[in-house]
Amino acid sequence: MAEHRIPDPAGFGVRLRTTSPDDTRALAARAADLLRGGETLLLHGPLGAGKTCFVQGLCTALGVVDEVTSPTFTLANRYEGRLVVHHLDFYRIGPEADLADIGVDALLDEIDAGEAVLVAEWPQRLAPLVKRRLELLVLPGATPEERIWHLRGVPELPAPWAALASAGGGGAC
Ligand SMILES: Nc1ncnc2c1ncn2[C@@H]1O[C@H](COP(=O)(O)OP(=O)(O)OP(=O)(O)O)[C@@H](O)[C@H]1O
Ligand SMILES: [Mg+2]
Repeated sequence: MAEHRIPDPAGFGVRLRTTSPDDTRALAARAADLLRGGETLLLHGPLGAGKTCFVQGLCTALGVVDEVTSPTFTLANRYEGRLVVHHLDFYRIGPEADLADIGVDALLDEIDAGEAVLVAEWPQRLAPLVKRRLELLVLPGATPEERIWHLRGVPELPAPWAALASAGGGGAC
């Protein structure tokens, strides 16, 4: 289905590898350290790739104590830690749905105000609405617990994000 299109990794500039769910959470924790509020992270990748696992690591690192679960059926979950995290999943949002009707405009205004971060799975329809965004594409690796993470930013990937590839949980590949 067109709304479930996954981007081509050739369009991403930075590549990392994680070797287990814990390693993915460690990578997400390092990403969380870079968040100041106002960022939008788009998480691309097939079913079961590790997008929600990444969000769990991100939220834990931000001090969220609530259990982070997939918002596949709820569309949006809100968590409070050092920053507010809005975790969205557009998998079940059909191409006919008006994103404004489901509250996306209001959420984007809140993100623009810099008080929260937005993390979205299956975000193809959201991407054109977000001028500044960080995009991660996770794909299966060569072994069952290996995942390859591709990063890019629009209009560019900030240097600290590119540097995620150079150390710790989720090394370069
Ligand atoms: N390196 C890894 N990183 C993340 N998850 C991994 C890794 N290795 C194995 N897994 C497993 O892969 C699954 C990832 O599930 P997760 O819910 O995070 O996927 P998802 O990309 O959010 O899928 P969906 O599109 O269905 O929401 C989990 O069962 C997790 O234990
Ligand atoms: Mg998920």
